[in-house]
Amino acid sequence: MTTGLPRTRIKDALASSCEYIHLCVKGWVRTVRRGKEVAFIALNDGSCFASIQIVLESAMDGFDVASRLGTGACIEVEGALVPSPASGQRWEIKAQQVRILGDADEDYPLQKKRHTLEYLRSIAHLRPRSNTFGAVFRMRSALSFAVHRFFQERGFLYVHTPIITANDCEGAGEMFRVTTLDPVKPPLAGGRVDWSQDFFGEKAGLTVSGQLQGELFATAFADIYTFGPTFRAENSHTSRHAAEFWMIEPEMAFTDLAGDCALAEDFLRYLVTYALEHCGEDLAFFDERVEKGLLAKLEALAKARFERMSYTEAVERLQQSGQGFEFPVQWGCDLQSEHERYLTEQVVGGPVFVTDYPAAIKAFYMRLNDDGRTVAAMDLLVPRVGEIIGGSQREDRLDVLLQRMAAFHIDPESLPWYLDIRRWGSCPHAGFGLGFERFLMYVTGMENIRDVIPFPRTPGHAKF
Ligand code: 4AD
Ligand code: MG
Repeated sequence: MTTGLPRTRIKDALASSCEYIHLCVKGWVRTVRRGKEVAFIALNDGSCFASIQIVLESAMDGFDVASRLGTGACIEVEGALVPSPASGQRWEIKAQQVRILGDADEDYPLQKKRHTLEYLRSIAHLRPRSNTFGAVFRMRSALSFAVHRFFQERGFLYVHTPIITANDCEGAGEMFRVTTLDPVKPPLAGGRVDWSQDFFGEKAGLTVSGQLQGELFATAFADIYTFGPTFRAENSHTSRHAAEFWMIEPEMAFTDLAGDCALAEDFLRYLVTYALEHCGEDLAFFDERVEKGLLAKLEALAKARFERMSYTEAVERLQQSGQGFEFPVQWGCDLQSEHERYLTEQVVGGPVFVTDYPAAIKAFYMRLNDDGRTVAAMDLLVPRVGEIIGGSQREDRLDVLLQRMAAFHIDPESLPWYLDIRRWGSCPHAGFGLGFERFLMYVTGMENIRDVIPFPRTPGHAKF
């Protein structure tokens, strides 16, 4: 029986400034300790890291049933909020009535003992009820809000770029195909699949980046950002790659590479400061159990000025390092993650922007520098994670852009609208993409991207 008392969140109950003679909480049982006269339930509703202690006395109606509840059961408790004599908690609830909404038996997988992250991944439907994943997903939510707040406070327009698109922005051929053609008997023209008969009248796929459309909006609203899902069909089995991830992509008119780096730096400092101010309880857990020294690292980052280093200097530093890298470094090659980590962890000891990469190894849209062989690109590298941001000033000169597209064998006919922006009212502009999961890995200390996204998609895995 319920009295219709509104539910109080456990977070609010624990933060209460006074006692209550009667309140109602609902949540999932973390542990039960039963004695003859009294039983204790740790109840969690996800609103905060801590569980609240529910005290059941044997004189209470239904004591027998309630004190035999299984871990994982869902209950509704009415009782009094009273000071707790136990250490480490200010309040507890002296139960007057307990109602079982959904019991759980001993097969419930999240019993008291600690589980490996790998095992928890295999029960992605239940892992949000664990301490670690409760903390991860609360932080993910809080920081999503902080992303919007940062840009909205600065007058950036939020634009929803399409998820289905015909353009492979990064040109890396990593697009998932979207089609309604019969896979067994597609229409053919000259022995090849005739995409003109497909749903969109051309080959389409899931977006790898909202940047190209973001650029269109930046030439109307000056400062814009996107924040949405991004898809890459790269067959990487690393701890830093997912086939579906979320990316934040600001784009700014009237901005060069230096301005782009400045925004990225402000943005990261803002997010980290936000986390320190709003996610203290969860961060304390990560600091203690996941990455020792995490809090000190974040506090330092919130104040730090990020280093900048050109690609050319980075290559020199790597060559002088005397390190036996698996992939030897020379000017012109792409930096591997072992090089990125060495630069940020050993050479700089903190975040570093590497700028001005060779034109041949970066995307077609990046602005060619005056030296004719590098582009105005930047990657932000951070310890443990490596690259978390990739960005650039964009090529705003129509003739140079056409040359760059020719060099990459990109048909100008495939991107007429992108070229139009250079034809009418072109302006210097720049932007970047922050991989939201990579950032969450950095902020929580979690080492695998699969553990910072609710339901990870990686090669061979699309369950849940
Ligand atoms: O460096 P990327 O490929 O840059 C772009 O997509 C540009 N269009 C961004 C822009 O200038 N607007 O990707 C940007 C970031 C990377 O630095 C990384 O953090 C993340 O996106 N990222 C991935 N995160 C998880 N899994 C993957 N497979 C990722 N690929 C890129
Ligand atoms: Mg990149």
